[in-house]
Amino acid sequence: MTIEQFKRTLQQWSDRDHRWMSVPVAVAALFVLLVLVKSCKGIVYNYSDECKIYKLGYPIEDARMLVAVLSEAQADSLIARGEHDTIAIPIINQRYFIARNFDSYLALHKVDTTASLADIIAIVNVGHYPDKDKKAVPCDTSKGRLMLINGRHYLDEHYKPDSLANFKKTCCYEDQKAQRVVVDAFVALQRACKEQTEAHLMVNSAYRSYQDQKGTYKRNDKRYVAVPGYSEHQTGFAIDVTSLQHPEKWSFGKSKEGIWMRENCHKYGFILRYPEKQSHVLGYSYEPWHMRYVGTDVARRIHDEGITFDEYYAFYLDKR
Ligand code: DAL
Ligand code: ZN
Repeated sequence: MTIEQFKRTLQQWSDRDHRWMSVPVAVAALFVLLVLVKSCKGIVYNYSDECKIYKLGYPIEDARMLVAVLSEAQADSLIARGEHDTIAIPIINQRYFIARNFDSYLALHKVDTTASLADIIAIVNVGHYPDKDKKAVPCDTSKGRLMLINGRHYLDEHYKPDSLANFKKTCCYEDQKAQRVVVDAFVALQRACKEQTEAHLMVNSAYRSYQDQKGTYKRNDKRYVAVPGYSEHQTGFAIDVTSLQHPEKWSFGKSKEGIWMRENCHKYGFILRYPEKQSHVLGYSYEPWHMRYVGTDVARRIHDEGITFDEYYAFYLDKR
């Protein structure tokens, strides 16, 4: 139908019903309504976080992503900064990004411009920034083999594992105990190491009570020994291992069995708890001898992803 025909029909209809005014008025009213709705939407959008972030200079897709990922309070503080932070999106795209830590990542990047983004994520996730001196909290022992003990998570001085078992004499120089599951896993580890490297692994130290740790702490270099209550030896899940052929613990990591253990221990449920070059994340220097039992599923993941247990815990177990 052409416009002329439409007008004619309209006219005829109006003439017939003596309502010649009502149709054009209704059409006009509808038009005005549409315009109003559209401009209202525009006004509302202008006040949205997405628009405000976009106006700071972020591409629109980035603004959308920021709004989707951040809480309202975080988006507000990003807007309040009043500038386009070019690190915001690369940080969100990091593998171990945790939304609640967003502000701390940005703040740490400002004060430490040389740290890689992966390090920034790790340092914040494990709690070394921003509150280095934050009060420690009790360890969540309900996590069992995955309980986290570090400078921020401690065990009560009376905490004692409930299923301690003795290692066989062929596994240690002096009597040692650990959780039953650790004793069994060590036997498998020891056997495989013997078959593949001919070296005989030995446990130098395993479960240590709070009182035992007091003695260890007094006798040793504080950089390598945890304060009583803060040692995972008290959980019964940690063992210090070297070999009959290479009993010296500092250089054990360079021996063929030390290298084998580092590369294969995850198959038996262990991780190297304090790996090389991770002291900025862990708070402890490299300990090639200190193994922690976490079970084969978690040990494999930690090994494959190349992260520390603290990072694993923050991202997979403590992510809120
Ligand atoms: N050597 C580790 C940190 C401990 O004492 O538990
Ligand atoms: Zn140890």
